[in-house]
Amino acid sequence: MKEGIFEERWRRTKYCGHVRGTDEGENIVLNGWVRRRRDLGGLIFIELWDHTGLVQVVFNPEEDPNLHEEAKSLRSEYVVAIKGKVRRRPEGTENPSLETGEWEVIAEEMVILSSAELPPFDLWDTDKVYENLRLQYRYLDIRRSQMQEALRLRSAVASFTRNFLGARGFIEVETPMLTKSTPEGARDFLVPSRLAPGKFYALPQSPQLFKQILMVGGVDRYYQIAKCFRDEDLRADRQPEFTQIDIEMSFITEEDVIELIEEYLVGLFEAVIGVALERPFVRLSYKEAIERFGSDKPDLRIPLEIKDLTPIFSSTSFVPFVKVLEGGGTIRGLLVPGGGELSRKELAELEDYAKELGAKGMVPCPFKEQNMKGPLAKKLSDEEKHNLVEQLHMKDGDLLLIVADTDFKKACEILGQIRIKVANRLGLIEEDSWKVLWVTDFPLLEWDEEEGRWVSIHHPFTAPKNEDLELLPKDPGKVRSRAYDIVLNGNEIGGGSIRIHDAGVQRMLFEALSITPEKAKERFGFLLEALSYGTPPHGGIALGLDRLVMLLGKKKSIREVIAFPKTQRGQCLMTGAPSDVEESQLEELFIKLKEEAKDGADVC
Ligand code: AMO
Repeated sequence: MKEGIFEERWRRTKYCGHVRGTDEGENIVLNGWVRRRRDLGGLIFIELWDHTGLVQVVFNPEEDPNLHEEAKSLRSEYVVAIKGKVRRRPEGTENPSLETGEWEVIAEEMVILSSAELPPFDLWDTDKVYENLRLQYRYLDIRRSQMQEALRLRSAVASFTRNFLGARGFIEVETPMLTKSTPEGARDFLVPSRLAPGKFYALPQSPQLFKQILMVGGVDRYYQIAKCFRDEDLRADRQPEFTQIDIEMSFITEEDVIELIEEYLVGLFEAVIGVALERPFVRLSYKEAIERFGSDKPDLRIPLEIKDLTPIFSSTSFVPFVKVLEGGGTIRGLLVPGGGELSRKELAELEDYAKELGAKGMVPCPFKEQNMKGPLAKKLSDEEKHNLVEQLHMKDGDLLLIVADTDFKKACEILGQIRIKVANRLGLIEEDSWKVLWVTDFPLLEWDEEEGRWVSIHHPFTAPKNEDLELLPKDPGKVRSRAYDIVLNGNEIGGGSIRIHDAGVQRMLFEALSITPEKAKERFGFLLEALSYGTPPHGGIALGLDRLVMLLGKKKSIREVIAFPKTQRGQCLMTGAPSDVEESQLEELFIKLKEEAKDGADVC
């Protein structure tokens, strides 16, 4: 088919989704894609789509037999320009599910601007479409209203952010994409240098060091909507390339960051989804979050809390508990109101899940007819049972799940996962609410068994609490940091800290991390040097833009709010990246591939 030319007279005068009663009797020009064609009783109907919505166009053989004939050639996703007259649809044929559903356009002229192959999936019904197919034909996927809405929401969030921060004296500064590899955190993506053979740039995992150096440079209030790259295992809320709303400020404390972000999120939620978040946000210390919810990103929409049962069992004769207590361990319980409805099979599955998570076991104690049931009931004293029922306010139909472990954190975290699982199963999550909280007072360091050394929980530029500084050389695990995370409905949407602004303290920390002065100089020498030239106290935060938009748009994965995301295996199915390159490109870079990497073999 010869495709028509887009002349001035075909310029649209109306968007498809905007046709309304005020246009009745008007001649309009529409530009768009044919979403569907139906031939009915001699008439041809098409639904014409553009990013604003759909409108029905009618071709009537009695009015223009040639045009009607031409309309027979229209297929899904053909691009057309149509001139026609707006009229009210005949009574009984309105479509209330369309905003334009009371009107239609009687076609008078048409040009087909582009034909289209048969789409590989139905653009209406994508719930049933295999995600990889959507990713391969992302341009078709983006023509769906859900994707259009997601991209527009994302753009609205970015605009709000720029206006909000701009109005508060922040300036947007771009930092480099080709930078120095500073391992400590996730794995870097490396880029070989042609001009310096054998040397590599790294793509930034975040602009962390640059934003700190901007503070040394007197910028005072920085932000950037920044691309970040991390070569880590992917999940629904993780991409190798993602976007942060990155913020840094000078001469501030934690409270300034918290104040700013609370004001920002309240304004954002109001502006983009019309939701009023309550201030001040809840604050939990890391310890409390683990103790009560078994997670450092607890979902507070779930009305279940983990309780410490250790005192109740302090003189128990139940052997597994005795052993745990002798080993200095803890006994924790999760009371699940209505959990009695879980079948034996479901309870067995929950126990298996707990074991998968590393529990030695999990004891289910259903409470029925004012009595504790289950295998543990016979092993406990009357006093223990009485105390459990009294202290936990157990009622008929409740279920108590108990985990005992010598490792306090492990016991809590296992019940934390169980908490989410049973809440999902029993429909206990308050789906329509928004629960946002700060988690503070994280430990500065954690012991890494694999590496056999202390590693940073946030990053090695996070300041220790002043009062804990002297513990750093002696008892690093006890030092708390000046870091904070912000959590929304069980997702970590941001994290930040007050930074070390003293080169001496920074050196002490590298020492605690077993990074020798030589290594520190080699990796972070530029930062240490910068810090020694007059550094203001400073701190900041980075919000995960993708996660924030995912939650605002009520999506299940960040892939739904990224125009061109990667799969779980880090591939772009549309472009085929990562891909082979020409031998000559490798030669220029002095790179020789190992045999096993040559045919893209799966070597991991
Ligand atoms: P952090 O590593 O906690 O902090 O990252 C900040 C936020 O970025 C989001 N995020 C991700 N989103 C999608 N895919 C990923 N792979 C991914 N990784 C992180 C999360 C997270 O809370 N420089 C520090 C910030 C600071 O200290 O100011 C940093 O990058 O929502």
